[in-house]
Amino acid sequence: MTAEAAGAPAEATEATEAARAADAGYDVAAVRAHFPALAEGAAHFDGPGGSQTPDVVADAVAATLRAAIANRGSVTAAERRADGVVLAARAAVADLLAADPGGVVFGRSMTQLTYDVARTLAKDWGPGDEVVVTRLDHDANIRPWVHAATAAGATVRWADFDPATGELEPDDVARLLTGRTRLVAVTGASNLLGTRPDVPAIAAAVHDAGALLYVDGVHLTAHASVDVAALGADFFACSPYKFLGPHCGVLAAAPALLETLRPDKLLPATDAVPERFELGTLPYELLAGTTAAVDFLAGLAPGGAGGRRADLVAAMAAIEAHGDRLRRRAEAALLDLPGVVIRSRARHRTATLLLTFDGRDPLDAYEFLARAGVNAPAGSFYALEPSRHLGLGDEGGLRAGMAPYTDDADVDRLLSALADFLAS
Ligand SMILES: Cc1ncc(COP(=O)(O)O)c(C=O)c1O
Repeated sequence: MTAEAAGAPAEATEATEAARAADAGYDVAAVRAHFPALAEGAAHFDGPGGSQTPDVVADAVAATLRAAIANRGSVTAAERRADGVVLAARAAVADLLAADPGGVVFGRSMTQLTYDVARTLAKDWGPGDEVVVTRLDHDANIRPWVHAATAAGATVRWADFDPATGELEPDDVARLLTGRTRLVAVTGASNLLGTRPDVPAIAAAVHDAGALLYVDGVHLTAHASVDVAALGADFFACSPYKFLGPHCGVLAAAPALLETLRPDKLLPATDAVPERFELGTLPYELLAGTTAAVDFLAGLAPGGAGGRRADLVAAMAAIEAHGDRLRRRAEAALLDLPGVVIRSRARHRTATLLLTFDGRDPLDAYEFLARAGVNAPAGSFYALEPSRHLGLGDEGGLRAGMAPYTDDADVDRLLSALADFLAS
């Protein structure tokens, strides 16, 4: 099959020397040794749905539950421990995202935080106001805005990506902006295709229009170094369980912006920022696990010792280069497998591959691979609008995502199981 027929992107054959060099120093065997779950034997390509967890994260969660802990406060040691856990987690996430720790909000999930922010912002919207969402986004960065806009009587405008290329161009968003646009919601990277839109260019257009930009960073944060200000995101949401941490959600915004918002909250709960956005008692053990995940990622920096933020930038570059090399290797081999269609084609994307198969159901491939010990699920992964826009309906395709612990042997197993499936 030709590259064109298989839908392979031209860039797949142009691995950069810089990326190869960065990957050369990445010791994936040492990384894997930290993941007890890998001993179960599966090859995990299901990271975009939730990554496996290193021992240090599990230890931090357990240690927090074993130690004396109370509600945040300053009188008892147990209160001080809870307070320290929260402040440490805000500082860790701030380093991960180059954000202000005073604007880091924790919640149950990105979905919950996005619904909360949408409802809060929408208190100030009315008929004639407009909100822009994109068909490249996970439903968690669409439906909260649609629901909030509808309740406020505001209008929702849709930005489409090109289904042939998987690209969402800045102009696809910019052309929808008007003087009444209040908010634009866009993904930092698609969890279905891996596409990374040019967020800074979108942000410039959004800010020119006087609107706010909400970036879904859930998929992006697992794959690349993030700088919220450089992206131009007014709000940036992500989920630690996608980047080796526990199951919770994070929202980052400038404290000054958060000060302008009045979320619904309990009367006795503090009105301070960012606490006023954190409803109820925080999951201290998960926050300790989040700090441990950020520290673990920073520890993967080749060389290290540059301070946590600098180490995170270097580590994420190494993780990105490693995943990218594996992704290109897999892509090149998939071109030789008749009947495989590679749907991930954007110029700039994460190490995530969406595949479909001529005349075969991706669900059958998913189940076949699972029997071979290769975990690569099929579906739309809640990226329902992208899946439909690609013509894949609600079924989607088979997704193979690279994670920091993915190695060449995993890729061999994926390729061999796919070849067996196609021959079956
Ligand atoms: C791109 C993207 N956005 C949002 C979400 C939702 O995240 P959460 O489970 O934290 O609500 C996911 C989860 O799969 C995702 O991949």
